[in-house]
Amino acid sequence: MAEENEGYKFYKEVLGSPKHVLAPMVDQSELPFRKMSRELGVHLCYTPMWHAGIFSRDPKYRKLVIEHCPDDRPLLFQFCANDPEKFAHACELAEPHCDGVDLNLGCPQVIAARGHYGAFLMEEWERVENIIRTACARIKKPITCKIRVYESIEKTVEYAKRLERAGAKIITVHGRRREQRGPLTGIASWDHIKAVKEAVSVPVFANGNIQYLRDVEKCIEYTKVDAVMSAEGALYNPAIFTGRQPPAWEMVDKYLAYCNQYPTNLSYVRGHLFRMWQKCLDNFPEMRHPLGKVKKFDDMCK
Ligand SMILES: Cc1cc2nc3c(=O)[nH]c(=O)nc-3n(C[C@H](O)[C@H](O)[C@H](O)COP(=O)(O)O)c2cc1C
Repeated sequence: MAEENEGYKFYKEVLGSPKHVLAPMVDQSELPFRKMSRELGVHLCYTPMWHAGIFSRDPKYRKLVIEHCPDDRPLLFQFCANDPEKFAHACELAEPHCDGVDLNLGCPQVIAARGHYGAFLMEEWERVENIIRTACARIKKPITCKIRVYESIEKTVEYAKRLERAGAKIITVHGRRREQRGPLTGIASWDHIKAVKEAVSVPVFANGNIQYLRDVEKCIEYTKVDAVMSAEGALYNPAIFTGRQPPAWEMVDKYLAYCNQYPTNLSYVRGHLFRMWQKCLDNFPEMRHPLGKVKKFDDMCK
């Protein structure tokens, strides 16, 4: 039975059957934001994507990116990688700090094209399988992955099945193609996600088109996925999974209190405030400039 495989065991027993998932986000899924999100209905968080090669060779980088907080769980660490050995070594070093490690196979940015990782590995199935297999043999905690879709549903399903066979214990499907970014972002295809969910027996998370709590319900009903992940929606309304839209200042105060407790990079904080305050800043545009240039956390709070 599908429900009894290792993926489901992990999903249920370690992760606690999460339904609401905060996406991995560079510069934005950092510890204070994760702490606030968990308070607001998120069941599972991912770290931002880190570079496996640098993580495995540079202790300073590791010190910078590993955020110690015992109750920041369940947590999946995310890496980009294109080299099996470097990914496996990074996984070994990350293993004590998380519940599992996610391989980013969806990043469509120019930097990923240059570094040859993320969605730019979509044409190299054997290499991707090798990355997953090698890591699975080296660490005890599960390896998961997050993918984008191809235009063809059949090809997307075939790809997901190969990842499952290679050892991925959860597959997150962002229902957009590699080309769908920036002004071309558009709508995510839940049909692709639904087809993957039908074809594999490990848990599947859906990602894309989640703006409100009712989208979560609709997505689960349509695709039958195990959980739904949100990125942009959760940045603009961190209470998205509660079904409420609290006033921005309420959420900002909560977030800044967590930043006070777990100091973080000021540019991450700035990014969050611009997003949570988007509507307020439309009404008070004169606040944009000071928020953009403030250099100290205390000044930002003022
Ligand atoms: C600021 C930002 C940073 C992101 N960084 C990552 C990342 O580190 N790893 C990753 O897999 N996806 C990353 N993404 C993509 C999201 O995880 C997600 O797949 C995408 O935004 C679609 O979800 P959404 O429609 O809920 O926004 C990022 C997205 C945003 C907005």
